[in-house]
This record gives sequence, C-alpha cells and structure tokens, in this order.
Amino acid sequence: MTDTTLLHRTPALQSRLPAVGTTIFTVMSALAQETGAVNLGQGFPDFNCDPALPALVSAAMAEGLNQYPPMTGVPALRQRVAQKIEALYGHRYNPDTEITVTAGATQAILTAVLACVHPGDEVVVLEPCYDSYSPNIELAGGRVVRVPLTPGSFRPDFGLIAAALTPRTRLLIINSPHNPSATAWTADEMNQLAALLAPTDVLLLADEVYEHMVYDGAPHVSASSIPSLAARSFVVSSFGKTFHVTGWKIGTVAAPAPLMAEFRKVHQFNVFTVSTPMQHGLARYLADPQPYLGLPAFYQRKRDLFLQGLQATRLKPLHTQGSYFQLVDYSAVSSLPEAEFCQWLTREVGVAAIPLSAFYAGGFEQKLARLCFAKADDTLQLALQRLRKL
Ligand SMILES: Cc1ncc(COP(=O)(O)O)c(C=O)c1O
Repeated sequence: MTDTTLLHRTPALQSRLPAVGTTIFTVMSALAQETGAVNLGQGFPDFNCDPALPALVSAAMAEGLNQYPPMTGVPALRQRVAQKIEALYGHRYNPDTEITVTAGATQAILTAVLACVHPGDEVVVLEPCYDSYSPNIELAGGRVVRVPLTPGSFRPDFGLIAAALTPRTRLLIINSPHNPSATAWTADEMNQLAALLAPTDVLLLADEVYEHMVYDGAPHVSASSIPSLAARSFVVSSFGKTFHVTGWKIGTVAAPAPLMAEFRKVHQFNVFTVSTPMQHGLARYLADPQPYLGLPAFYQRKRDLFLQGLQATRLKPLHTQGSYFQLVDYSAVSSLPEAEFCQWLTREVGVAAIPLSAFYAGGFEQKLARLCFAKADDTLQLALQRLRKL
C-alpha cells in the first residue's frame, strides 16, 4: 500500500523573503473594514475616474484590439508618453528604444532592480520609503543600504548619501513627490544629487508616480529634466496614480537605450507585455493634456480642505508639498507608539491611518501617522468630524 502522507507531502520551501510577513497596510485595511472606520490609510482614491477613460478602453475592446501588443507596449502610447515627457521635462526619449509600458510602477521598479543589480551589489534607499524597494533588492541578491531622510523635514542629507556610496553601490532609489512624507525634491536638491553621482557609475531609479501632484505652483523636478541624471536613470511613472485608476496597474519606465535594452530583457520574461485595450485607451486619452495638467489644482483643493479641517483637531499637520498624503503629529493626543496609535485611532475614533514607522526597516518612532486625502469630500468631512473629537 502506498503511504499517501509521504506522497502528498509538500516539500519545505526555503523563503526567498524570510523577513516579509503581513504588512501594516493589510492589517489596517482589514481593521478599517471590520470596524467600519473611514479608511484614510489606503493610498488610493475612493472616487471614480473620468468616464471618458473607460469609454476609450471599451471602444478599443469593441474594435477588436484584444491580442498581444508589442512586448515594449503599444507604439501610440509610447509616442504619447515620449511627447508628454518632452513637453513637461524637456528631455526627448526615443519611444522605440527608451520607453516601455509596464504593469504599474511596481513591476517597473522590480524589473529595473532585477535588470541592474547583481548578487552582492549595494542599493541605497532613503528611509522612510515605499515598501517594495527592499524586497525587490533582496530578490536580486543585492544588499539594501538604508540612509535616513532628515527626521522632521524629510529632506535628503547629501552628506549621508555620499557616505553610503561605495565601489559596490550599483543603484540609488529616490522617490519624489514622496510617499509617505509628502515632500518633493527641489531643483537645487536634484542638482546636488546630479553633482554627487557625476563622478560615479551609480545608476538612479527615480520613482515619480506622484509627478502630477505637486502643489503651490512648484514644478515637479523630474530626473529626466536634468541631463546628467537622465543619462543614468530609470524614471518610473504610473497611470494608476495620475488618472485615478490604481486598479488598472499600468505605468511606464523611461531610460536611455542601453539601460532600457537590459530592462526589456527582464520585462520580456517577466510580464512580457501589458493589457492591449487599456494601452490604446490611454494613448487616446493622452491626446488631451488637461486631465494631468489639472491634477495639481484638483488635489491641492483637497489638500487644503483637509488641512483646514485638521486645524480644528489636536493633530498637528506637517506641510504637504506633493503626493496625496498628509502626515500628522499626534504627540498632543497620545503617547502610544505609532502602530498602536493607528490601531487605536481606527478602533476608537473610526479613522484608519498608517504609522510612519512602517516605512522604516528599524521601525523608527516619531509620533507621526500618514493619512490619504485622495478621497471624496464627503469622506474627508466624515473623517474630520471624527478627528475633531480627539
Ligand atoms: C512611491 C510609490 N511607488 C510605487 C507605487 C506603485 O504604483 P503602481 O500602483 O503603479 O504599481 C506606489 C503606490 O502606492 C507608491 O506610493
């Protein structure tokens, strides 16, 4: 008789990412749902996109544009993206060799990391940072080198970044506008970075998913707008963020041809390519620049509405220069550590937030929580009404 216990045994798998568990984002979202809290934790809109956009995607489907597109992306979309970058940031990428359409920024970042990081290479990230960077680097066999942004202001400290660079440094990852601190790098800071990297062979990954959310008339300073940075950068964008369709998971990466050639080798055997009708729909939608040119005003109004409401609470808002996040200092309200405070806020006050410590590997505590204002005005008002009771 066969021993089915042995036959059906699942072999033990040695984890490639042993440190990764359930993230705070999953925990907080589940808690928000369970308790009926207003969810300002999750970083995505609770309102719909412009109906013209899904109509264009539906039209593309109805026209029969439903089979594999080219590996690099639909040419019309790559051309539109190249034109947009040139118009906004002054750098001309060749749409055939320097732009690739990806399954969101997430896949673009992983693919760029896998394309250039060899086992043992060092990759510098600036903490606090988006949670996919470190696991991506670890999957490539790289070593994560964490450099803190200046606590309080969250500005880059070029002395610390310079000290972290070694002959083994392959890549630096930056993110502006920044999740979670809502800061945006200035032209002066980007130029300082350019000067720092100029004598090195360090590549740059510029995560610019919030490029169209910079406020108070300030420009978004893209890595593509500074020639010496553009020459060594993968610049990542996200249609999900820009057009309120985060669930579509579609973005782009722009890089000089030699870097893009290596990117595409990995991309080809990773996702190969991205949804055809969505690419056609987006290409047509991009014919009108107004939807993305109007985005700073759209979100600045929400930022100001939310900020004004927060003034009537005991939370102290930090300045949001960009992105759709708002940090609040809760030290006048509670002495709890950040994760516990956010759980308490969700359960007892009915507003879900994300602890800033979740964006640091070492769980640095600053009594700061991240709230997302990419929500309908009614959602923001309801949250404010609850926060006023604090
Ligand atoms: C800084 C940052 N990078 C990348 C992403 C992922 O973008 P996408 O949804 O296009 O994969 C996010 C999403 O929250 C983000 O905040």
